[in-house]
Amino acid sequence: MSFPPLREELRGIEPYGAPQLDVPVQLNVNENPYGPSPAVVADVATAVAQVTSGLNRYPDREFVELRTALAAYLGRDTPHGVAPEQVWAANGSNEVMLQLLQAFGGPGRVALSFAPTYSMYPEYARDTITEWVQGHREDDFSLDLDHARDLIKERQPGVVLLPSPNNPTGTALPPEAVSVLCEAAGDGIVVVDEAYGEFRRSGTPSALELLPRHRNLVVSRTMSKAFALAGARVGYLAAAPEICDAIRVVRLPYHLSAVTQAVALAALRHTPELLGRVDELRAERDATVAWLRGQGHRVADSDANFALFGTFPDRHAVWQGLVDRGVLIREVGPEGWLRVSIGTPEEMTAFKQALTQVTEEETP
Ligand SMILES: Cc1ncc(COP(=O)(O)O)c(C=O)c1O
Repeated sequence: MSFPPLREELRGIEPYGAPQLDVPVQLNVNENPYGPSPAVVADVATAVAQVTSGLNRYPDREFVELRTALAAYLGRDTPHGVAPEQVWAANGSNEVMLQLLQAFGGPGRVALSFAPTYSMYPEYARDTITEWVQGHREDDFSLDLDHARDLIKERQPGVVLLPSPNNPTGTALPPEAVSVLCEAAGDGIVVVDEAYGEFRRSGTPSALELLPRHRNLVVSRTMSKAFALAGARVGYLAAAPEICDAIRVVRLPYHLSAVTQAVALAALRHTPELLGRVDELRAERDATVAWLRGQGHRVADSDANFALFGTFPDRHAVWQGLVDRGVLIREVGPEGWLRVSIGTPEEMTAFKQALTQVTEEETP
């Protein structure tokens, strides 16, 4: 064994993360470009001050107040409502899903998704010593339902990860497809990762509506995107109470700090205001998709706060050309494609100007 005694399969692997470059226009990690208003800042600060005097004590391990507030929020997206016992939370939805893999994956078990998809999924599998299986998507990045159902039946995964909208393509999943795949999974858990759910186009329902029909369904959400709270690290899920109870076995004690709980609760009290920009961002997304198509690019249909566009013979050169002009986007997805997060109108204007210059240079 050499030092440090890292697991063999982790040797030489770079830690996950998009480049954090100090450029004026940052459109690379699907953040919400609008920071909290002075009223939200003041309320969050007061809430943090209140818990600070009690920081000598461990926080509420079961975070009942936060689960209750999150359940009320989720209840808006389903006629069946959501109970606090159906809610779980952790430090970002990445931690929520890692805990799901810790509980329902593991040696001898399979985790499965359909590429191209969120690049952290194979990392959850690797870190929990779960076998990673990846099916494919159609050319327009929708799911080939027959292929998906057959693969799930064949491999019987402990966990299926279905992002809707998918990252990096923006593709949403129809509820009928979720139902078919929940049935195909038998006793396996099906996670519909709705990290970008609030940005979905009208008429696309949330998988929350399906919870009463499928006891193996988990709907994962985050406060990082629509709620504009990426820095607070709060992700959560809704599922059958037995699933939440099972996660309690693998979570670290007191994993959600008193400060995190206070920040999330204060933010949830400002839900209408924090989500107030979602409609603007959806409109900006649709305008960006239309503009890119007008420029002759291929663009995947998007229900999220980003757009995947291409294809470029040398996408790295385009990415670099944009960085040189102060605009950072993401080199991700199938070869030739690039992903741009939706920012403010000013940021999108800067992106469009820079892209026009770069593509004119590439094809004089
Ligand atoms: C599809 C998807 N799921 C989950 C996450 C994790 O977000 P967080 O850990 O901030 O909740 C992301 C982040 O970009 C994502 O794109």
